[in-house]
Amino acid sequence: MRKIIIAIDGYSGCGKSTTAKEVARALGYRYIDSGAMYRCVTHYFLEHHVSLTNPKEIDRALRDIHISFRLNAHGQSETYLNGQCLEDEIREMRISESVSQVSALPSVRHAMVEQQRHMGKHRGIAMDGRDIGSVVFPDAELKVFLTADIMVRAFRRQQELLLRDELVPLDAIADNLRKRDLMDSTRKESPLIKPVGAIELDTTHITIDEEVDEVIRLAVQHMFVKVKPGAKR
Ligand code: DC
Repeated sequence: MRKIIIAIDGYSGCGKSTTAKEVARALGYRYIDSGAMYRCVTHYFLEHHVSLTNPKEIDRALRDIHISFRLNAHGQSETYLNGQCLEDEIREMRISESVSQVSALPSVRHAMVEQQRHMGKHRGIAMDGRDIGSVVFPDAELKVFLTADIMVRAFRRQQELLLRDELVPLDAIADNLRKRDLMDSTRKESPLIKPVGAIELDTTHITIDEEVDEVIRLAVQHMFVKVKPGAKR
């Protein structure tokens, strides 16, 4: 059975992370949350007051940023920035409010894409984000593009924040999602698009378990495809 790359892209709050995480667990693959990487950069920039209009400051900061993913005692992947676990902090609203500006910066994207490609060089990964199937791994064997109704997405995000004891009104979350959708899909550098060859899955009316099962089913199909020696993937 060959090892493949599973690229899961789509709008915020469509269950990308949960799906990629569960699919990776089921297949024994590594899970990489690329959004968490942009959130870490945003966290660092806010903490160190990095000016988004000063390229030199940005480049210096990027050289100082080392992101890794480690499994905790329960086998769940957690995000580390320079050796410190920031899994919870990077989900706070203050980060969500700035992450689209930070992730639109070309130098930030170049640095993250390089690290993401390095993480996928042996394949056997499930990575979720906005440009995974289009830019990071255009040769991914399986590309999935997730969509869902905005209010359903806002409700799901609200539940996630509640688990972290952050109570945010539904309208505020929907507003944040709308703004991020617009910024993510209209930015110059690697905008959010449905990648060529991606399978679109509308998750509005399906449960997260159904979403995960469907992606596993697709992944298994691709894992058993026989590739002729020398053939393009
Ligand atoms: O998936 P998320 O909501 O945690 O992502 C946070 C932000 O990072 C999102 O608003 C857009 C950006 N992002 C990106 O530009 N490219 C990616 N591959 C992943 C996330």
